[in-house]
Amino acid sequence: MAFMKWIDDFGVGVEEIDHQHKDLINMINELFDAMSVGQANDVLGEIINNLIRYAVIHFDTEEGYFDQFDYEFSEDHKEEHRKFKEDVGKFKEGFETGNIVLSMEVFKFLKNWLINHIIGEDQKYKECFRENGLQ
Ligand code: FEO
Repeated sequence: MAFMKWIDDFGVGVEEIDHQHKDLINMINELFDAMSVGQANDVLGEIINNLIRYAVIHFDTEEGYFDQFDYEFSEDHKEEHRKFKEDVGKFKEGFETGNIVLSMEVFKFLKNWLINHIIGEDQKYKECFRENGLQ
């Protein structure tokens, strides 16, 4: 059974962004599966790097539309993205230096952050993006 599943409530009405959110969920599942079968740290490290790179691409996508559409909650939303990148960056550093291990706590953090962010912040731009013709 997958660690995280897509549900329709995550949808923001924009195909490109829903696709990116699904990819992020798949990447967290890939990391979870790799940890579950005891993959080596270099394999896990590569998946973590891919996940971070993809999260940055995704945040840049959303933020590009915020700027384009002059989205009113842009600054608060960008701050959530910034904090997540900082937290995950610290985790990555700790993992690479052997000071932090990949644990259920880490997965719970990733899962809860993504769910809360998509259901909370991301849903707020739905109307703005729709009004600007994005779908
Ligand atoms: Fe979909 Fe704001 O991240």
